[in-house]
Amino acid sequence: MKIAIIGGGPAGLYSAILLKKQRPEAEITVYERNRADDTFGFGVVFSDATLDNFEKYDAPSYRRIIREFAYWDDIAVHFRGSVHRVGGNGFCGCSRRTLLLILQERARELGVALLFETDIEDEARFADADLVVLADGINSRFRDKYIEHFQPEIDLRSNKFAWMGSTRPLDAFTFIFQETEWGPFIAHAYQYEAGHSTWIFETDPETFVRAGLEGLNERQSADRMAEIFGWFLEGHPLLINRSMWRNFPMIRSKRWVKDNMVLLGDAKATAHFSIGSGTKLAMEDAIALAEAMHHAPTVEGALQQYEQGRREEVEKIQHAADVSLVWFEHVDRFWDFDPVQFAFGVMTRSKAITYDNLTLRAPDFVGEVDKAFARQVRAKGFDVDVDKPDAPMFQPLRLRDMELANRAVVSPMCMYSAKEGVPGDFHLVHYGSRAIGGAGLIFTEMTCVGREARITPGCAGLWNDEQQAAWRRIVDFVHANSAAKIGLQLGHAGRKGATKLMWDGMDRPLEQGGWDVISASPIPYFPDSQVPREMDRAAMDAVKAAFVQAAQRGEACGFDMLELHCAHGYLLASFISPLTNRRTDAYGGSLEGRMRFPLEVFEALRAAWPAHKPMSVRISATDWAEGGITGDDAVKIARAFAEAGVDLVDVSTGQTVRDAQPVYGRMFQTPFSDQVRNEARVATMCVGNITTADQVNTILAAGRADLVALGRPHLVDPSFTLKAAAWYGADGVFCPPQYQPGKEQIFRNSVRDRQDFDDLKIKAKPKTRAELKAETTKPLAAE
Ligand SMILES: Cc1cc2nc3c(=O)[nH]c(=O)nc-3n(C[C@H](O)[C@H](O)[C@H](O)COP(=O)(O)OP(=O)(O)OC[C@H]3O[C@@H](n4cnc5c(N)ncnc54)[C@H](O)[C@@H]3O)c2cc1C
Ligand SMILES: Cc1cc2nc3c(=O)[nH]c(=O)nc-3n(C[C@H](O)[C@H](O)[C@H](O)COP(=O)(O)O)c2cc1C
Repeated sequence: MKIAIIGGGPAGLYSAILLKKQRPEAEITVYERNRADDTFGFGVVFSDATLDNFEKYDAPSYRRIIREFAYWDDIAVHFRGSVHRVGGNGFCGCSRRTLLLILQERARELGVALLFETDIEDEARFADADLVVLADGINSRFRDKYIEHFQPEIDLRSNKFAWMGSTRPLDAFTFIFQETEWGPFIAHAYQYEAGHSTWIFETDPETFVRAGLEGLNERQSADRMAEIFGWFLEGHPLLINRSMWRNFPMIRSKRWVKDNMVLLGDAKATAHFSIGSGTKLAMEDAIALAEAMHHAPTVEGALQQYEQGRREEVEKIQHAADVSLVWFEHVDRFWDFDPVQFAFGVMTRSKAITYDNLTLRAPDFVGEVDKAFARQVRAKGFDVDVDKPDAPMFQPLRLRDMELANRAVVSPMCMYSAKEGVPGDFHLVHYGSRAIGGAGLIFTEMTCVGREARITPGCAGLWNDEQQAAWRRIVDFVHANSAAKIGLQLGHAGRKGATKLMWDGMDRPLEQGGWDVISASPIPYFPDSQVPREMDRAAMDAVKAAFVQAAQRGEACGFDMLELHCAHGYLLASFISPLTNRRTDAYGGSLEGRMRFPLEVFEALRAAWPAHKPMSVRISATDWAEGGITGDDAVKIARAFAEAGVDLVDVSTGQTVRDAQPVYGRMFQTPFSDQVRNEARVATMCVGNITTADQVNTILAAGRADLVALGRPHLVDPSFTLKAAAWYGADGVFCPPQYQPGKEQIFRNSVRDRQDFDDLKIKAKPKTRAELKAETTKPLAAE
């Protein structure tokens, strides 16, 4: 077999090694345009988990790599004169040059031919090769040559960055967030060998210009960075090596394989440097390719297997990198945070690290985070313990005169079980048990303001006395038997009305017994859905009046809070999104025009709803669709509602149009809550695939939301909050006297269960290489 590999970076060399090991008889050549030791850049980092992988696939190169590596366990966050260190991270760094020399040496040993100073212009010269590996890096000539086939999507990010070095010793992966007269600068720095550290500097484009960096040469800009970070560099110089300022290209390719050619490493996909995974991805691509070549009978089959098997993992890492880079791009959102909360945000930015996880490895740090959170709550007039505070989830919150005992919320969820809009016994048990279960706030399902405002025939309503009496019974039960507050979500289905019950076909039009539907514009939801009638002024007045009457009935029921449903493609949302609002009058066009009617309704409700009771609004912060609402729009929408007196924005997303492409994942809507809260400066509630109390605490402690709503988890576990309180030892959580023995038992057992769980986790966790190194002075095993 003949294999040609274009590019002698980590992807090219490691694939050469693994393929040669697998097929000693194969003729494998690596073509590299640079000289053997002619590498740019400074260090690379790997996690312990990545090194375990390397050990499994090629022990000799692994052993050489770990001999050369610098290890560290801590991450240090410097912000506004403070430094917070968090241990147990298990990373190691090595010079890129050393890594490449090790891989070159190992490849040569195995019999791979390495041809340096050989720039490949045309792959036609490999016509006789069975496999051509395109590992030619971020600016891949061959990806571009076959651009129509590979279909790369290149997202050039806004921040500027430059990669430099220093002799400053570092004993932790170090983030420095530096305020300057021009704006914020960030340094990501780590040591990769004795006396050498990598320094990546990053700043936003405006700060870059204001700091006069535009037009400076490498040396001049390094000198400017040395001035800014001089206090930390302690006289150590900044070193340059092709340290130009650039914009990071986030690359995703639709296809990775063409005939017998395959893209590997940066050529196919990149991951932002802030998660330090570029070299890992490149080398793990090589592993995946070697695995596929081992298992598939043909090269063609192997390449297909490589692409199919590897894509999900790469996309997962890219997603984590995306989330991380967005955090860094918007660091100014958090600039006024308490430094410990800021550091917690840095640590948890890409979702992999959580509150519980940090509690295990850095309990003192999390203790400080809890105290900072409790101090903020105390500053709002609550008599909470700041020395031994409860976890953030169990800290109270006040909205106008309504006080919530904790931050867990039962998200509004239609039960499709009302008769003519009247909630029945099912609803009493449903809401009652969730209130007893300990959540601070429970929302009703979308409660419709008129018969024709319903989504389905099973939707609850509040337009007549019978419905009002039924809701009153539920509200009274909640108030009499729990500490929960209960909020009423009012809505109008708009073009999604007259549809089937969820279990008969979500959003599908009713075949019989339907009613006329209205919307901002006459656009049906499905092609075969009813075409809604475009609302005229009279229809708007009628809808507004119906909302006001329902709110008045809600007040008569004793609800504590009112939420206006402006999300998920229902009537008011259909005004806000440009995808569903094509109006040419004052209620369409610009965002201002599209917000006009929803704001009118909100203002009318605000006037009708008692001034001491809070109001929230649920929005879809993105339509997940081309041309639709984006996070930036959501900030403007939230500001407009805040000016009209909203106390909380309930940040959901999507469900506006059928062809949306949501990116699901754990806590997938939380970034929008973060953006709205910290840009529009309004309290938010986040929701969406949040399933554990650990996630709730992570979100709250990082300042990404003020309340956390859980929908589906509450469907199967009414006592989610009580159980979480037991886990975190928050014994102030309400429990009715009838259930007190159960509470005592779970609180007693939880102490032991938690201890066992933590012990298990600690035992199961392999020692990091830094820990192993610290334990032994013996040299690591020789080959
Ligand atoms: C600022 C910055 C910081 C980073 N920090 C880290 C980090 O801390 N940790 C980490 O793991 N990764 C980091 N990376 C990413 C890392 O450098 C890359 O992801 C990794 O090197 C990708 O490996 P590769 O083999 O795919 O590509 P490359 O390393 O770019 O190798 C491609 C090779 O192909 C050669 N080549 C290109 N075209 C041709 C041609 N036509 N003919 C012959 N040869 C050719 C090039 O000369 C090059 O040697 C960082 C990247 C940047 C930009
Ligand atoms: C059965 C069901 C009914 C729902 N009904 C409503 C509703 O009436 N109003 C609303 O705003 N959201 C509604 N939602 C959305 C939820 O409030 C929540 O935003 C969504 O389920 C995501 O949260 P989760 O991942 O915690 O379930 C509903 C969700 C489910 C599962």
